[in-house]
Amino acid sequence: MEYITLNTGAKMPLEGFGVFQIPDAAQCEQVVYNAIKTGYRLLDTAAAYMNEEALGKGVARAIADGLTTREELFITTKVWVQDQKNEETAYEAVRTSLAKLNMEYVDLVLLHQPMGDYFAAYRGITRAYKEGLTKAIGVANFYPAILTNLCENVEVIPAVNQVEMHPFFVQAAAIDNMKSYGIAPQAWGPLAEGKHGIFTDPVLVEIGKKYGKSAAQVVLKWNAQRGVSIIPKSVHEERMKQNIDIWDFELTEDEMAAVAAKDLGHSEIVNHDDPMFVKALHGMNIH
Ligand SMILES: NC(=O)c1ccc[n+]([C@@H]2O[C@H](COP(=O)([O-])OP(=O)(O)OC[C@H]3O[C@@H](n4cnc5c(N)ncnc54)[C@H](OP(=O)(O)O)[C@@H]3O)[C@@H](O)[C@H]2O)c1
Repeated sequence: MEYITLNTGAKMPLEGFGVFQIPDAAQCEQVVYNAIKTGYRLLDTAAAYMNEEALGKGVARAIADGLTTREELFITTKVWVQDQKNEETAYEAVRTSLAKLNMEYVDLVLLHQPMGDYFAAYRGITRAYKEGLTKAIGVANFYPAILTNLCENVEVIPAVNQVEMHPFFVQAAAIDNMKSYGIAPQAWGPLAEGKHGIFTDPVLVEIGKKYGKSAAQVVLKWNAQRGVSIIPKSVHEERMKQNIDIWDFELTEDEMAAVAAKDLGHSEIVNHDDPMFVKALHGMNIH
């Protein structure tokens, strides 16, 4: 495993494990336990995933069984749009997440979307950071202009910006912008959520053959190799193992370029410029 040093000085594993769309509590707890057993040390959840409690239980069980320690783990959660109303609601959302996770602190709190009064919400998570409730703060889905505006106006620069990044949505300019502020880019949907025939794509499969790796392993390595943190999700142990087994090969420059050539220049999962999408997220209440 490789690590990125965040602008806080803390080290974050370059690869982690995401738990989006694992709503069943018993399954999520077991999946988290299995992920830790497999070797993942970064776990990514969110208030909106409705599984913080289950993740906390999986972590507690893994620690009790001696698989890891709290210090070795990097836990991320996110404040949902509904709680991005003002400083207080965002601050309280962090406390609520900690209670659900049954943890004294998390390693990273992100604003989940650039929506609501996100400046006030950012002040709320900044307060949580200063009080030690979280070791770092950051944002998600902050596209370049919005991220730049935030960075030009806040006291604490985000440590991480988590956005959709995979071969079909490369986001090279967005990464350069993040890096210019010392922000670590983190890819959600690093496997494009299975879209675009990513697992059987002939170019990706062919590159993988050379190293005895799958298309999934090639795309994960491609992001990691360009310094982008990845947090793939799988409920299957075999795939969990496969997705973390990417540290024994290097893609050539030509292979890196061939993967990036898949870029469509836009997302086909979500559209942050669509007013209906923004409205829909405002209507999604989690409490
Ligand atoms: N900040 C945000 O707005 C945001 C948005 C989306 C996601 N995220 C975070 O990013 C994480 C990852 O993104 P994601 O879950 O949306 O998508 P993803 O990791 O790109 O893809 C997950 C999908 O790929 C399948 N899969 C995983 N490994 C595979 C393999 N080796 N071979 C074949 N299929 C495989 C999984 O199926 P199985 O589970 O059935 O194996 C699942 O359907 C999330 O879990 C979440 O933590 C954040």
